[in-house]
Amino acid sequence: MRANNVFFGIRRSLSLTSSILSPGKILNKSNMNPNVVKMEFAVLGPVASRAGEIEKELANGVKKPFPNVIRANHGDAHAMGQKPITYIRQLVACVANPSLMETDKSIPSDVIQNAKAFLGNCGGRSAGAYTQSPGVEIVRKHIAEYITKRDGGIPANWEDVCISSGTSESIRNVLKLFINDKNRKKVGVMIPIPQYPLYSASLDEFGLGQVGYYLNESSNWSLDEAELERSLKESSEKYDVRVLCVINPGNPTGQVLSRENIETIVRFAEKNNLFIIADEVYQDNVYSRESKFHSFKKVVTEMGAPYDKMEIASFHSASKGFMGECGMRGGYVEFLNMDSEVYMFYKKMISAKLCSSVLGQAVVDALVNPPKKGQPSYELWKKEGDAILASLKERAELFEKAFSKLEGVSCTQVQGALYAYPSIKIPAKAVEKARSLNQEPDFFYAMQLLETTGICIVPGSGFGQKDGTYHFRSTILPPSDLFKEMLKRFTKFHNDFLAEYK
Ligand SMILES: Cc1ncc(COP(=O)(O)O)c(C=O)c1O
Repeated sequence: MRANNVFFGIRRSLSLTSSILSPGKILNKSNMNPNVVKMEFAVLGPVASRAGEIEKELANGVKKPFPNVIRANHGDAHAMGQKPITYIRQLVACVANPSLMETDKSIPSDVIQNAKAFLGNCGGRSAGAYTQSPGVEIVRKHIAEYITKRDGGIPANWEDVCISSGTSESIRNVLKLFINDKNRKKVGVMIPIPQYPLYSASLDEFGLGQVGYYLNESSNWSLDEAELERSLKESSEKYDVRVLCVINPGNPTGQVLSRENIETIVRFAEKNNLFIIADEVYQDNVYSRESKFHSFKKVVTEMGAPYDKMEIASFHSASKGFMGECGMRGGYVEFLNMDSEVYMFYKKMISAKLCSSVLGQAVVDALVNPPKKGQPSYELWKKEGDAILASLKERAELFEKAFSKLEGVSCTQVQGALYAYPSIKIPAKAVEKARSLNQEPDFFYAMQLLETTGICIVPGSGFGQKDGTYHFRSTILPPSDLFKEMLKRFTKFHNDFLAEYK
């Protein structure tokens, strides 16, 4: 089973061996790394690149039945118009240009204090210097304090934390540790289906085995123990399965796992000797009143022996939450119970890349060491952050309700993260039409939607789904006005599509 058996929704027709040689080029498709040819990343696939072309066409005056493209394909808040948090940008500005701390009297004293503390940990007191490979020491210490507070006092050690240029980098680095050609069987990594395609793409790139386990849509995309067992059992002939990846809150599925469900997952992983990759980048994006974020670290610690000795890598990011600072590239990994030698090798591996972006590290500092009550920046920071989270919560409800009203579409509750992942019944005639074009039906639907309305979503085939079911992922990021417009266009398209292919 694979999350993607298609190339961005288009069925593969060319094999590597049939690729045409490019004479004269030392490196060409037929002799380059085949894993790179194979890997796929649907979020930025052909629907998104066609959206970019349409934007250019519109700018050049090409007439379309819509005035603009609505990009609901990417969890990139600032790209959808979200404004940066003042504190973060003031901190980054001071770190990048320390003279501002002398000349700009509008910068609050706590920003100056934090920028100075950060620069005090940088070589030559400059953001232009390389830092230690795992990151600036004071930021790693702030991360440990943040995790300790988040988990109700369960201690975190700053030396177990490594900062990276975005969490994607840390996740890929951890996966790399499992590449082992000496293994008799390929190492297998269990990933959810649907999944965020960073996983399938990286596994393909690294030559690791993809072991998919289906999330249960009928119980709001939770994890079933029986399904985990099935997936492990069916793949164990082929793979030496050593890792279980869990995304909580979920992307693309928007669920928040209950504590009970996490305990089930933990017991399964312990019983089967699996290293847990806990992708917790949406930990601050929880909207449903009944849901609460529980970190894997807290759960295993509270479960006690033998679970508190399990090996876990947990990830967080400055790209999500209310900050949405995707372009700044800041994230981190915390290791729990990692073998000390392996950790030493991990640090050696990341040292080959020298260090992560220093301004990105400053943004991570803003994530984990925000203004405190009573400090001059606190009120504005709180007001701005709360307003974004309240608006995301409102949009989560709006999206789920609105999509569910469309004929043949149903949407589970958007409990967290930044996405709705509705299922859609595509009429048989449309399925036939898509197949005749060598396309996946949901890709066909998404492309038609884009060409007719300018709305850019990601077809479910990019994330993986049960055979015969179709889905799409929309972010909840379009602001309310744009969302209303999006819904108007979407509804008309959808009804026309159903009528055409009835
Ligand atoms: C589940 C999940 N993990 C990791 C990432 C990577 O985030 P970044 O590299 O921007 O920190 C994303 C980004 O969308 C994501 O959705």
